[in-house]
Amino acid sequence: MRSPILELQGITKAFGGVEALRGVDFALCAGEIHGLVGENGAGKSTLMKVIAGVHTEFSGRFLLDGHEAHFRSARDARAAGIAMVHQELSVVPDLSVAENVFLGQQPTNRFGLVQWRRMAREAGEQLKRLGIDVDPYSRLGDLPIGLQQLIEIARVLFSGARIVILDEPTSALSPPEVERLFATLRQLRDAGTGIVFISHFIEDILRVSDTVTVFRNGQKVAETAAAATTKGALIEAMIGRDGKALEHSYSDDLMLPPPNAGSVVLKVDQLTFARSLRAVSFEARAGEVLGIYGFMGCGQQELSRILFGKLKPDGGSLAVDGRRRTFGSTASARRAGIALVPESRRAMLFHQEPVYKNISISILERISSVLLKPARERAIAMRQVEQLQIRPPVVGLDLGMLSGGNQQKVALAKWLTYPPRLLVLCEPTRGMDVGAKNDVINIVRDLRAKGLAIIVLSTEPETVLSLADRIVVMKRGAVVREFANEAVSKDRLLEAA
Ligand SMILES: Nc1ncnc2c1ncn2[C@@H]1O[C@H](COP(=O)(O)OP(=O)(O)OP(=O)(O)O)[C@@H](O)[C@H]1O
Ligand SMILES: [Mg+2]
Repeated sequence: MRSPILELQGITKAFGGVEALRGVDFALCAGEIHGLVGENGAGKSTLMKVIAGVHTEFSGRFLLDGHEAHFRSARDARAAGIAMVHQELSVVPDLSVAENVFLGQQPTNRFGLVQWRRMAREAGEQLKRLGIDVDPYSRLGDLPIGLQQLIEIARVLFSGARIVILDEPTSALSPPEVERLFATLRQLRDAGTGIVFISHFIEDILRVSDTVTVFRNGQKVAETAAAATTKGALIEAMIGRDGKALEHSYSDDLMLPPPNAGSVVLKVDQLTFARSLRAVSFEARAGEVLGIYGFMGCGQQELSRILFGKLKPDGGSLAVDGRRRTFGSTASARRAGIALVPESRRAMLFHQEPVYKNISISILERISSVLLKPARERAIAMRQVEQLQIRPPVVGLDLGMLSGGNQQKVALAKWLTYPPRLLVLCEPTRGMDVGAKNDVINIVRDLRAKGLAIIVLSTEPETVLSLADRIVVMKRGAVVREFANEAVSKDRLLEAA
């Protein structure tokens, strides 16, 4: 048995009254990829933030190379060779790609001036290793979310750290990008880096990890060699119930239902936008979930932004309930009955506001805030919190205190009280654990039964397969295939994309 480079013993961490970690032991060896799984709110990110020097107040022992360590900040942790990709993107949109890759450690010459050309060249080389071909001088915020995520990963992987933590790094990546990431992780591992990898994609965890640890309710409930466990067993340990029922892998054929007779709520005809969309046409019907699947960069993002009035198409038309529409703004799209839960939920959630405010904001747009008494506002929010099983079920808590997956649920909860005509969901289950995904599937089905037209856009085959009645596949800005009333599977989708 190798001796660990990092060892935590009996770590306990509380936020106010909430105990996020209770007596957790955790060890990481050099040259090991250690997978971490657990329900939303189980304490995974909290433990990693203890390791990365973000949370400095906790009890328990923290040993680095067998010696007690006390970090006073994330900077201390970095100096000790620990780097982390956070679950929430922490790139700086206004800086260039190269500056983001070297954030905090730009190469300088002996006069202390940043060596721009060297930085751009090295950034470009590092990104190539992950298969990313991007101009190092471009502004990061102008790039798609998935690319931003890859750039953040590159920064951490190539920072020279000997302990690397990746908290949900693959949620916005396409399958080929995940493969390249895994290849790079294996190289780093073989060179002696200790890696912690957190994901809700259990198949990925099993594929890339040497060891897997399971968290539940702030405690470590299992630790095993990846080769010695199964997806079903891990799910069981994570949520302690019907592991088998949630174990879907979508590798087998799934039958899509016969066409739906509901009225056409949205008709998109020959939509074009710059180089991102080429003559895209499809319909969304009442009482139906339309899945739109494609790799990152296939045009989904632009499409959703056009639907919500954030981008103006160059050509083609949109009709809602048979009436041709042009959306000059988000407000006009919303007046036409379209609601959108965007890919980057950060933009529409208020981290410093309590959960109930984040939920009631969509109601306040419809009825005057004078009519909505705070007590009623909280009661409405409480119902959604219960229905979606948001944890902890405390509507007065600031949103920023919820775990990543629970914040996602809040973003959805907004639309449940007064549902729109057409609901457009971008990556609705990103960052959610298997149990929570199942909750979302049930909610979407309820909304469908109420007669809503629902569009689910996702780069994850599992997401569209679990939700959609009909699936449109996009590739390089065009619709290349439609699956309806026929068999479909993960492989068939990947092949079409
Ligand atoms: N800054 C904070 N203030 C208050 N409570 C917090 C804070 N950060 C986390 N918590 C709470 O600690 C618990 C563990 O959260 P954590 O973010 O570690 O979960 P997680 O396992 O990473 O979940 P997810 O899969 O959803 O990301 C949750 O109950 C969460 O609400
Ligand atoms: Mg987390």
